[in-house]
Amino acid sequence: MIEARNFSITYRHRVFKKIYALNNVTLKIEEGDVVGIAGESGCGKSTFARGILKLFNSWQIYSMGGEVFVDGQEILKEKEARLSQIRGKKVAMIFQHPYLSFNPVLKIKKQIPAGEFSPLQNKGEILSQILEKVGLEERVLELYPHQLSGGMLQRVQIAGALLLKAKVLIADEPTSSLDAITQKKIINLLKKIVETENLTLIFISHNLRLIRYLTKKTFIFYGGFLVEEGPTDEVFENPLHPYTKALLKCIPEPHKKIEPIPGDPPDLSQKTSKCPFFERCYKRESICEKFPPYRGERRKVLCFYPEAKYRIENNK
Ligand SMILES: Nc1ncnc2c1ncn2[C@@H]1O[C@H](COP(=O)(O)OP(=O)(O)O)[C@@H](O)[C@H]1O
Ligand SMILES: [Mg+2]
Repeated sequence: MIEARNFSITYRHRVFKKIYALNNVTLKIEEGDVVGIAGESGCGKSTFARGILKLFNSWQIYSMGGEVFVDGQEILKEKEARLSQIRGKKVAMIFQHPYLSFNPVLKIKKQIPAGEFSPLQNKGEILSQILEKVGLEERVLELYPHQLSGGMLQRVQIAGALLLKAKVLIADEPTSSLDAITQKKIINLLKKIVETENLTLIFISHNLRLIRYLTKKTFIFYGGFLVEEGPTDEVFENPLHPYTKALLKCIPEPHKKIEPIPGDPPDLSQKTSKCPFFERCYKRESICEKFPPYRGERRKVLCFYPEAKYRIENNK
């Protein structure tokens, strides 16, 4: 459904500076997959998500490279007019800040996408069915965004995706600004919707517990690079990349000391020729001053680390 090959995005920062926010990311997401993208803030998760739809202002971007296919259609070379069709019909996005995703002076009914209906379908009926699916009452249509809670607005965004019959839903930190109870409700709603509607879901979060709960496959990003991927349970139970291992140790658990990763995230204004995790890696060896290969089958990892290599080769 979505395939990226050597996908790179460099932002233009101030006048002369560049930010290498995404570097040679190659990955494949099949139809019906529920995948998670995890990693520290600033590692390129949102850049990847927006990149799939080319949702940027042209002045922000210095360059975009590689190839991205959505349902077989190459995106990067596509004209704006065709792209707006893909954005609406194939891929829908749910953003982190519900209040920023809506126009404050328009009622909700004016902000829900029109959707497409055959002449035999009753538009009002379909809309009320969809509102019911996402757990909203019809009266919300007459309200303004500020009259709804954050959780309700996220439900409106999900309803919009269903109205457009999107095949892929990209949820970029959809619950990060919600309280714990609302967060749980929205996560369960997403889970139910992707199952019943057979959607492909890309769930982006720095919250690893949510990724584990919701997704079947996990991609770990670090400093704009994809550093590890695999079935979610395997990545969490048996992380291969030293960064993933360190990241998982940051999940708070009772009676366990949290071990923050020492050092700072990499400076993205410099292109690296070493392993991107080199400065912070506790397993580094001299070979790591070269750029590591991204290898493996079911599990893939960007690392020279001999143990990772051994485990991949022996399928462990
Ligand atoms: N419009 C922009 N111009 C310049 N740099 C940007 C822009 N948007 C994001 N960045 C930078 O790109 C990097 C990746 O950002 P982002 O994709 O938002 O990370 P994440 O979503 O993982 O937190 C960060 O260093 C961020 O500061
Ligand atoms: Mg983000």
